[in-house]
Amino acid sequence: MSNLHAIITGVGGYVPDYVLTNEELSQMVDTSDEWIMTRIGVKERRVLNKEGLGSGYLGKKAVHNLLDKTGIDPDTVEGLICATCSPDYQFPSNATQIVEDAKMKNAFAYDLGAACCGFMYAMDTAASLIESGRYKRLVVVGAEKTTSFVDYTDRSTCPIFGDGAGAVLVEATEEDLGWQDSILRTDGSGFKYLHLPAGGSVNPASHYTVDHKMHYIHQEGRTVFKYAVNNMSHLTAELCERNHLNNDNIDWIIPHQANIRIIQAVAHSLDLPPEKVMITIHKYGNASAACIPLVMWDMEDKFKKGDNIVLTAFGAGFVFGSAYLKWGYDPVRK
Ligand code: UT7
Repeated sequence: MSNLHAIITGVGGYVPDYVLTNEELSQMVDTSDEWIMTRIGVKERRVLNKEGLGSGYLGKKAVHNLLDKTGIDPDTVEGLICATCSPDYQFPSNATQIVEDAKMKNAFAYDLGAACCGFMYAMDTAASLIESGRYKRLVVVGAEKTTSFVDYTDRSTCPIFGDGAGAVLVEATEEDLGWQDSILRTDGSGFKYLHLPAGGSVNPASHYTVDHKMHYIHQEGRTVFKYAVNNMSHLTAELCERNHLNNDNIDWIIPHQANIRIIQAVAHSLDLPPEKVMITIHKYGNASAACIPLVMWDMEDKFKKGDNIVLTAFGAGFVFGSAYLKWGYDPVRK
């Protein structure tokens, strides 16, 4: 084992300007601010509504923000992994276009698909590459235009989702900071409860798929809810136990932002008080793989060097995971 750790040394982010409020949604489907706030916890979400732009655009903006904030030379970035389940195209990947746009001419680039767990899976991959000693500086992005597959006549799914992107700089350090541990799991039997039926190679776009609304998310919410609470709670408990983490030494938990009740149930199962639970769901909704880096971007000024942070997420597959990292730097006040 090397002494190298993968440390997050900067965070960038971007959300599109358009704010879709619960009031506006209530004019589109039979719902209300009160129902959405009580059952989901989303007050408003961002929507990328400019024609011809997709999640790659959001990823580019987040990476520009990251480069501006950190001041690093793009030539020194050795690789970029973009976690997304709403890529611009089947191929090439979003990552290739982000790297091109950011002028990272020495970087490898690929997308990683693990739905709402994508950022955590991509961070785990980047951390392993850095710990191996082969790479010193990577960028991990979570970028989603989830609203591209939301049916705005389906009240059971349309309040949940939003668009956005977050990006982190990951570097090698010999300090005992950064990515410490993770447990990632998959349960493919969950396919039927949450998937996008068409647009892939099984059901390419056709009149049939369009007529049958197969390009929209299929979600059996109650079942997904139960699996999410159980798996995030159990996995995080296992991770905490083997790293001797508890309410005394955990500074923050950053859960995937799918439903406030899921977040509260997971925090409760770990005995964590609400003030340690980072929440942006009210502002951005569920931006899938972008949720966790968006929380880091939005709440960056709260973190201190050495803070113990637990991440946990759950998404389509099912995929789920929990990770433990020590934050790498003190707040940058401007
Ligand atoms: O990030 C990927 C992972 N995804 C998740 O973690 C999502 C997990 N699931 C959930 O967040 C929740 O299950 C939903 C938010 C999707 C749904 O909430 P729920 O409390 O499970 O509602 P439900 O589906 O059990 O529906 C309860 C009632 C139904 O009415 P009846 O049949 O009891 O009369 C629905 O028709 O609520 C109704 N309903 C709504 N009412 C007002 C469903 N959506 C709405 C709505 N406004 N938007």
